[in-house]
Amino acid sequence: ETPNIDYVEEILKLKKEKNAVILAHYYQIDEIQEIADFVGDSLALAQQAAKTDADVIVFAGVHFMAETAKILNPTKKVLLPDLLAGCSLADSCPPESFAAFKKQHPDHLVVTYINCSAEIKALSDYVCTSSNAKKIIDSLPKEQPIIFAPDRNLGDYLNKETGREMLLWDGACMVHEAFSMEKLIDLYKEHPDAEIIAHPESEAHLLKVAKYIGSTSGLLNYVKNSEKNKFIVATEAGILFEMMQENPDKIIIPAPAKEDNTCACSECAYMKMNTMKKLYLCLKHELPNIEVESELAKKAIIPINRMLELSK
Ligand code: 13P
Ligand code: SF4
Repeated sequence: ETPNIDYVEEILKLKKEKNAVILAHYYQIDEIQEIADFVGDSLALAQQAAKTDADVIVFAGVHFMAETAKILNPTKKVLLPDLLAGCSLADSCPPESFAAFKKQHPDHLVVTYINCSAEIKALSDYVCTSSNAKKIIDSLPKEQPIIFAPDRNLGDYLNKETGREMLLWDGACMVHEAFSMEKLIDLYKEHPDAEIIAHPESEAHLLKVAKYIGSTSGLLNYVKNSEKNKFIVATEAGILFEMMQENPDKIIIPAPAKEDNTCACSECAYMKMNTMKKLYLCLKHELPNIEVESELAKKAIIPINRMLELSK
């Protein structure tokens, strides 16, 4: 191991040498968001991955995001700093059980949240993210029966928003189910002038008290454009970095989690597996490298492209 290595300097050097681009999600650690060429929500990251002319895409996010990037741009080398950076929501939808469920409802179209494996995408008619889900569902005929997977909280929220009764897969994100209503109410009593805003992966009781519900970029835009100056934010804590930078004069308070953890807010252990050291090593060795079997990729790209087409 090299002591005192300047990761920022080395990463920038390697990036140039290899014509690499670093794409990072808002849930990444601050240092990674700072060094990234592009930071965004799931949709913006997929759009960037699809159009980049870099030779190497370093995906500072979780596995399903890097896999989607590889499917969209298969001639590029796609790197994920830690191969174990998975997703509890994607894990809550195993392909065999989902295929059996789909078989039981042959008249249904399948709309899936991008937070799922390539195998699940290959079983889908449309992919969506939290920033375009409503638009995509609204584009389908009113009478069309739909299966929505894997997130039951987002699905339930979308059923209310669209007036549909989509059949929901029973999956969830552990980070967005970790918020404590009790602590949130106490916090709100201390800050009655704050607005509660939330990501739609959160549970219905929390969404009920939220003034605004949206994707990570939706939440950022809302705070930036709001007249209010105090917010309680229910999503992964990584978003605070960009939110505080964009709004130095506003008070931003993370919604409290049930379990007391280091930051008393909710953190995604998978997103936080990526570190500057791993980012440096993955660029240096061009590993771990994400591959998607070509038959699988051919099926999975269809619903992803339908989403991108509808999101222009
Ligand atoms: P968005 O950035 O699209 O809102 O996604 C949130 C999320 O949980 C990603 O894992
Ligand atoms: Fe998955 Fe939730 Fe982590 Fe996003 S925050 S990667 S949905 S576990």
